[in-house]
Amino acid sequence: MTATEPRPQWELRTRRTAYIVSLLPARDGLVLDHWGAPAATAPWAEPTRVVGMVPESDVSPLEFASDGQRHTAFAELLIDRGNGRTGARWTVLDDLAADSHRLTVPFIDETGTLRLELHYATSPEHDAVRRWVRLTNTGSEAVELRRAFSAGWNLPLGPHVRVEHLAGWWAGETRRRSTDLEAATLSIGSRMGITGFEHAPVLTLTAATNTSEAYGIALAWSGSWRMRAESPAVGRHVRVSGGPHEDTTVVALLPGETYESPESIGVRSDAGSDGIRRAWHEYERTLARDHGEHHRPVVYNSWYATTFNVREEHQAVLAERAARLGAEVFVLDDGWFAGRDDDTRGLGDWRPDSQKFPDGLRPLADRVRGLGMRFGVWIEPECVDPDSDLFRAHPDWIYRADGRPALTIRNQYVLDLGRPEVEAWIADVLRRLLDSAPITYLKWDMNRAVTDGGRPGDPHGREWSIQHVRAYHRLLDLLRSEFPEVTVEACASGGARIDLAVLARSDVVWTSDEVGPRDRLAIQHGFLTAYPASVMSSWVTDEPGSVDRSSASLGYRFAVAMCGVLGVGADLLRWNDVELERGAAMVAAYKDLRGVVHRGEAYFHGDPADPTYAIEFRGPDDDPRQVLLVFDRDRERRRDRDAVRIRPVALRPGTSYRSDAFALPVTAGGPPFTVPFRWAEDADVLVLTPIDNQEEP
Ligand code: DGJ
Repeated sequence: MTATEPRPQWELRTRRTAYIVSLLPARDGLVLDHWGAPAATAPWAEPTRVVGMVPESDVSPLEFASDGQRHTAFAELLIDRGNGRTGARWTVLDDLAADSHRLTVPFIDETGTLRLELHYATSPEHDAVRRWVRLTNTGSEAVELRRAFSAGWNLPLGPHVRVEHLAGWWAGETRRRSTDLEAATLSIGSRMGITGFEHAPVLTLTAATNTSEAYGIALAWSGSWRMRAESPAVGRHVRVSGGPHEDTTVVALLPGETYESPESIGVRSDAGSDGIRRAWHEYERTLARDHGEHHRPVVYNSWYATTFNVREEHQAVLAERAARLGAEVFVLDDGWFAGRDDDTRGLGDWRPDSQKFPDGLRPLADRVRGLGMRFGVWIEPECVDPDSDLFRAHPDWIYRADGRPALTIRNQYVLDLGRPEVEAWIADVLRRLLDSAPITYLKWDMNRAVTDGGRPGDPHGREWSIQHVRAYHRLLDLLRSEFPEVTVEACASGGARIDLAVLARSDVVWTSDEVGPRDRLAIQHGFLTAYPASVMSSWVTDEPGSVDRSSASLGYRFAVAMCGVLGVGADLLRWNDVELERGAAMVAAYKDLRGVVHRGEAYFHGDPADPTYAIEFRGPDDDPRQVLLVFDRDRERRRDRDAVRIRPVALRPGTSYRSDAFALPVTAGGPPFTVPFRWAEDADVLVLTPIDNQEEP
């Protein structure tokens, strides 16, 4: 191709949008022309006044940039060729591949030794654009990538934008936050070696004043990561970039080697952040391996009831009660393996403790199955206690900086999953454990940050954070392929490893160690802005919660858990018959409604901090019921004041709904109704069912 030929343009189609890119006139970079409703679009051209004193590539909406190509603006790729030589200048190659759902654009650098491919994938099933890059060293010298991000996104929102994100801490994950940016940069991420509590790798952006045109950008990565959003002082495009965190990652590309970045995924909507939420849920449903209930069962987990004090007979009695409640799987949490009487020892020795389970796990598993439930266990295979046979046998398997004493957190070290022998050992542990008893549910936990990551002496040693994640993903993939009947619950001290890559490889995620219902509601509210109810594991536990120690009725606590995948984590031996019966009735109600919650769409009424807050689930077409879960923070206030009134926001137009809670039918646009609080004094679960023979106008 020559610079005088017409500029080639490619259009990727999502369910509702088109994503159109073209080559720059000099064919040295790919730029965004249009992202929105399908429309004919001319190739991008920036007004010259903006170009000013810098190269044009620095102000072009480049889809991906390296140093050497960009000189003053941010670049997703930083290349170190040694001897002070950095960066690359790119020219497009002829072997590109394109159709309406896939695009691969290859480039070669000026030395002819680096090949860069920009990859895109879309689907008619959803509105997500998936992007990643591959970089191959075809030369004879090693290069290092000091930053190896996945994509640059150019959002035409102007210089003043609102960025919504999710921030948190242990037992306080995914709190909604909003920041206005004007000629400024927001940078969020994790350096924990896992996705982390502090930020979720997902941003929602709108213009500060007009919030209907909205974009969501996420990073599907379960290790240290960084995302940045930069609003320009002048010009239209806000640039969002993300990838493995450069503070913890230097990629070595030896001759012949290829680096493939994590995926970054983008969605667009004209319905503001509500539309982005729905777009994420629609996409994420396609990641689930099936849409049925088998892999998101009602769990009973005994952790809060027994912690490390695990005894077979005691667990069996709990299982009897769990079965009475209607649980579908009984999960034995931490404490079942050799020497694990507290959190100071045992991690790594994944055989049943001979005192607690003299005949292994099978007798308890059989008893649980005899009660009509599946059996599951907890595991934390990436960690090891200093006091364990594993560590005594393999002290060199942990992350440790040369000569420095290794640091314990929760008394444990992290295994170096970048070592093939460690990954193989974990694969063997999983296979032996799952073959040892009828286990069909695995809760995979990870309870500390990686410190002193790296492998001195190994040319790939500074890539530890990428290697760790790749091995973790491969092990989850192994579970899916070799043990497809096993449901995987992903966990990291609560919600410290939740991202789109984990969602693609697990069935549910443990959202938080906070089980206090009011705090939990706020955590779940943020979670649902990015991730769907169908993966949000949520348990009813005894009071008080971990941090939020306020009291709420049993009905309130059940309703909170019913917003996701309901489980129970209470000490059921402390429940009386009335509570057990009431609990069983609420589990049965949840089972009836979960298809609406898991396959429907969520709409918020206010904020969990408001006196009254509700989540409305609009059921799918084959179960068009409407479920409203209403929460009242202050029972006393409500007793003294007016009734709580609510108007559903997402009823099907032209449809009348009935409820056994009130006499008159409910219709879209009709008057609000009074919440009867029949479920509990501080919460209600209302089901609106379309009245038969109604037709949409
Ligand atoms: C942290 C998890 O979040 C808890 O649910 C529990 O599994 C503990 N670890 C066990 O050590």
